[in-house]
Amino acid sequence: MSAASNPILEVKGLTKVFGGLVAVSDLDFSVERNEIFGVIGPNGAGKSTMFNLVAAAYAPTAGEIAFDGRSTTGWPSHRLAQAGIARTFQTLHLFGDQNVLDNVMVGSYRHARAGLLSGLAGLRGARANEHRRREKAMQWLEFVGLADLADQTAEDLSFGQQRLLELARALALEPSLLLLDEPASGLNDRETERFAEMLRRLPDQGITVLLVEHNMHLMMSVAERMMVLDCGRKIAQGTPRDIQSDPMVVEVYLGSGDAE
Ligand SMILES: Nc1ncnc2c1ncn2[C@@H]1O[C@H](COP(=O)(O)OP(=O)(O)OP(=O)(O)O)[C@@H](O)[C@H]1O
Ligand SMILES: [Mg+2]
Repeated sequence: MSAASNPILEVKGLTKVFGGLVAVSDLDFSVERNEIFGVIGPNGAGKSTMFNLVAAAYAPTAGEIAFDGRSTTGWPSHRLAQAGIARTFQTLHLFGDQNVLDNVMVGSYRHARAGLLSGLAGLRGARANEHRRREKAMQWLEFVGLADLADQTAEDLSFGQQRLLELARALALEPSLLLLDEPASGLNDRETERFAEMLRRLPDQGITVLLVEHNMHLMMSVAERMMVLDCGRKIAQGTPRDIQSDPMVVEVYLGSGDAE
């Protein structure tokens, strides 16, 4: 990363109150273009709330979020998707009865709009567009190692494969910013290691990653920078090495037995 800051995402004063509970409190952070930025913290720290605010699933109580220099406050989530922000969910959201390829093609919806226009110009254009989307979807399936299973029904995949499928679907949106909430939960060690290898290849493809993750090994092996949340607040930020040796982090998080 160069010394000059070139953030793709800037968050200032972000706050979310549920009833009387302050889930995210006056949070400032920014994510640089083409980095993997990690977010860790104990259960209930506010990680998913922060994530859902950035993904526009929740409206903030206060604060500002800017993507590519533009405020996204008040944007519906589909507008974020069109602008280039893709997300996965902490629990899987797949179309279980559809095949693997179709699940990924749903992700390329953003580019299907061009298909609508070419559709007006003629059926041949629409077909060509469908063909391109299919090819792109297959490339992402190859990227995550599921190309051989393209025709299988999604619910017949193993849990680990379904996680990879969800990743492929988010990637098919060709996002510039990918938001991942606990993408490795439920994966075994080997699957997690393969997942980490995949994540490390994303910045080279022009994809910035905001990664919420409990698995410290995964986080330490992929994140360039990370922040630690506790009770809705940022208590530390730095490189994985900085974080590992920060006494406050060790006390609230690493010492809690959460970080195996
Ligand atoms: N929709 C909601 N309504 C009310 N309270 C909520 C809601 N979502 C989260 N909270 C509360 O906000 C706090 C932060 O929760 P959040 O899910 O953001 O934490 P987290 O860091 O993602 O935790 P985990 O590691 O368990 O996923 C918790 O006290 C939680 O109970
Ligand atoms: Mg969470």
